[in-house]
Amino acid sequence: MDDVERDVLAAIAASGTVNTGTIAARLGVDREVTVGVMKRLLAADMIASTPIDRSMLTLTDEGARAIEIGSPEARAHAAVPSEGMELATFKSTSERDVADVGFKQAMQCKWLTMVKGERPRIERAVETIVDETRETLRKVQRGEMIEQKTTEALKKRKLIKEEKWKEYELTKGAEFALERKVLPADLTKEMMNEGSWKGQEFKAYNLVPGAGAQPASGHVHPLLKVRQAFREIFFSLGFSEMPTNNFVESGFWNFDTLIQPQQHPARDAHDTFFMKTPAKMNFAPEDYVDRVRTMHEIGGGGSIGHQYAWKRAEADKNILRTHTTAVSARMLYDIAQTGFKPARLFSIDRVFRNEAVDRTHLAEFHQVEGVICDKNLTLGDLIGVLYQFFERLGMTQLRFKPAFNPYTEPSMEIFAFHPMLDKWVEVGNSGMFRPEMLEPMGLPEDVNVIAWGLSLERPTMIMYGIDNIRDLFGSKMMISSVKNNPICTI
Ligand code: PHE
Repeated sequence: MDDVERDVLAAIAASGTVNTGTIAARLGVDREVTVGVMKRLLAADMIASTPIDRSMLTLTDEGARAIEIGSPEARAHAAVPSEGMELATFKSTSERDVADVGFKQAMQCKWLTMVKGERPRIERAVETIVDETRETLRKVQRGEMIEQKTTEALKKRKLIKEEKWKEYELTKGAEFALERKVLPADLTKEMMNEGSWKGQEFKAYNLVPGAGAQPASGHVHPLLKVRQAFREIFFSLGFSEMPTNNFVESGFWNFDTLIQPQQHPARDAHDTFFMKTPAKMNFAPEDYVDRVRTMHEIGGGGSIGHQYAWKRAEADKNILRTHTTAVSARMLYDIAQTGFKPARLFSIDRVFRNEAVDRTHLAEFHQVEGVICDKNLTLGDLIGVLYQFFERLGMTQLRFKPAFNPYTEPSMEIFAFHPMLDKWVEVGNSGMFRPEMLEPMGLPEDVNVIAWGLSLERPTMIMYGIDNIRDLFGSKMMISSVKNNPICTI
């Protein structure tokens, strides 16, 4: 218990009531100190308190200056000689506050008048004036009361300001005493030895939970949180995850197996990252490579192919995969080899594109891809499964737009009504893999594959309200935003 606390208690005992502001002034301490003491005593139920709003007018620097050298309007009056002067000269030779506010106020007080003409003049309307503003400011300085209307006017002119604070009237509480008992929080060895613990009163436990400290552990990046939510949606729909741990792909698996022609612009260095070392490597079964070559060159199964000379060298080039469909192609080939069985597969991983970086594009991003391989699938199955999938993301209204992908026919862009954004947005791309792609793999003729893809970044940005992708991913992301982002709620 400190001296201020003791003095406050003594003052209440002596006169029944005490004001935190008055006692602070008497003891020569800050007002906050007596308020702090009050809070401690309130918590111990030793006093009761009633707040009182207090305020005080003080001079601003400009107000203090007006007391010293006169108000701007008085100085404006003084600046005009008895015979008057040209307005332009007055304005150009006076100090700014005199030329502006001072002039306006002096005109309002009818201390000056204006003589209109080609070169307007100002003259004194009265010879002597009383500087009321200065007088009022002096009153404020002495702490005297002034009229409410005048207070408002001077506050508006920034000559005075009002300081506000709370004071408290303190009276005795239920547990009032001249000393605050500081109760022990712990049972000590001495209390045990002496047996004093028996009559001892202890400090009560605080059972109100406070906010816990942030654990010093790692934090999950928002993209990973949303990825996990997507994985769970796929698992709940009976999908299994494809192995996507190879960022480097050959052109063969990324493009050729999808029967994307070798002269397609996407296979250009402008759009795709090519590896320097090793620049080439392609572990692909030669019989399959041959069937893919034939499909490109002359077609098969009713298709005429692309009608050009397919080059093995192009297929062998190492690149950073441009989409996860490269992995889907590998999986479908495996399914055909091991004897067809229906499959539902998904992947969520990183892909790379040689793109100009801006607020919505990075050279690397994540794709979410779903693939279903079964007999006699139709476009209706694709539409049905898309409704199932997007419903779990909270989007129940979908629209489809015909689109083009080199490896799907038909292809559809997917639009959804986004409840959070309250508008229709493009949410993905989809289609049925072409027979030209499936036949060389060795899948039975009546097997169809439906698939769809979307980015992981876009839903994450929408969900976390991020509008610049660089705030989400890469070296410019703030560590604090990794630590503080909320859990994903899809
Ligand atoms: N691979 C496509 C892309 O990169 C997405 C897609 C996947 C389209 C599956 C159709 C089917 O945009």
